[in-house]
Amino acid sequence: MKIPEKNLNEAEVFETLERYRANDNDWRAGRTWGYVFDAGREIEAVAKKAYMAFLSENALDPTIFPSLLRLENEVVGMALAHVRAPEGAAGNFTSGGTESIILAVKAARDAFREQHPGAGQPEMVLPVTAHAAFHKAAHYLGVKAVTIPVDTTTFRADVDAARAAIGPNTALLVGSAASYAHGTVDPIRELGALALEKGVPFHVDGCIGGFVLGYLRRLGESVPEFDFTVPGVTSISMDLHKYAFCPKGASVVMFRDRSLRRHMIFACSSWTGYTMVNTTVQSTKSGGPLAAAWAVLNYVGDSGYLEMVRQMRDGARALVEGIREIPELRLLGDPPMTLIACASDQLCVFALADEMKDRGWYIQPQLPHAGGPANFHLSLQLSNVPRVPEFLRDLGEAVAKVKALPKSDLGENVGAMFAGVDPSTLTSEMFSQMLAMAGIGGVGLPKRSADINLILSALTPQMRERLLTEFVNELFSADRS
Ligand SMILES: Cc1ncc(COP(=O)(O)O)c(C=O)c1O
Repeated sequence: MKIPEKNLNEAEVFETLERYRANDNDWRAGRTWGYVFDAGREIEAVAKKAYMAFLSENALDPTIFPSLLRLENEVVGMALAHVRAPEGAAGNFTSGGTESIILAVKAARDAFREQHPGAGQPEMVLPVTAHAAFHKAAHYLGVKAVTIPVDTTTFRADVDAARAAIGPNTALLVGSAASYAHGTVDPIRELGALALEKGVPFHVDGCIGGFVLGYLRRLGESVPEFDFTVPGVTSISMDLHKYAFCPKGASVVMFRDRSLRRHMIFACSSWTGYTMVNTTVQSTKSGGPLAAAWAVLNYVGDSGYLEMVRQMRDGARALVEGIREIPELRLLGDPPMTLIACASDQLCVFALADEMKDRGWYIQPQLPHAGGPANFHLSLQLSNVPRVPEFLRDLGEAVAKVKALPKSDLGENVGAMFAGVDPSTLTSEMFSQMLAMAGIGGVGLPKRSADINLILSALTPQMRERLLTEFVNELFSADRS
């Protein structure tokens, strides 16, 4: 593949792009329970118009583009008010939940280093249900992730375990509101009290839940406490590209006070170019996502969001009730919002995900981990709501079909084969053989994922990580000829 000698004309460019996405997931149909948050064409059009209007402005330097400074302060102001931040709170707009989390961890790490000169490696105490982004932050920032268990029925963090895990090097305690996998809210008030007692910062990951939970509370639902009104909470992340239905590349990281936020900012004058001062990991960044987020927040407005959340709440209720009527399925925890995880003691949930895919639905398989069973996840969002009855009907039929399938022993065989094996002793070729066993030979995406998920389920997290790294290392195979 080379830059084409003869360029494409505009029609050819767009015809080719459309052709390339012919096999993509059809998220507009409301049959995808994850990845895309879709509030319909009208809001999408407003978002795209604002995005394109600010596409080329560069938020690298807000003094050159004061419009972006103003937009950011207004978006962050709305977010701070939503999570009931006190006077003096501060925050910034970021590209997503992962970036918000990386920045919150960096702030905590650098504050810890300043306050504890000569201390050992900073640590972060997090429930096993905390998002993988915290592990990524730990990895990137040289912070040790100390995981603690959750209750295996409620999937909420074990506060006694958190207490036991906090030590002299703890730079940050983490809780989720809500956790992605099971949609449950950790005991934020208790964790906040613990953080205050121990004198450690406490980050609440509201990336997926923060926006919805605030509205659910206003709708009269009994929502667990999670925001800045809880003493001890020092920072909160909240994504706008999820339940605020803004285009991707929109999240906010917020701090109870500026003295902690200061540690997030990176300044560099030790080179020959302009002095760089960044609030985010990104330097050069399009003004598009920020302008689009501002536009959507203003266009939908508070009463618009309240109504959207009311519809999603009703959809989630119908979904939960319908799933409860399928005896082969078991809901995990008692999710207070729109995120649902479902296991089965009678059938393979991974085969069920494939069966649903054949029926045009995307449901997300989740591997067993830390005492929790294999399950599938649903992030219900607005365009799913009218589809709930149809989804439940297909789910019931798919369950009946999968229940009748013979049980696969692939996972057990692979588990026995690799029990006790240290992944660092295995070669890339051996991992290729494992992938081939799951029917994923060579380059390309598997059509059915049950076998690979059965294999992954039988492996340790370290083996899973290695196998998937090998897979992705193969997958992105650009042809340079
Ligand atoms: C609870 C939670 N935290 C963090 C993230 C990471 O967000 P992003 O994918 O925008 O980086 C997610 C994403 O689903 C999430 O659900």
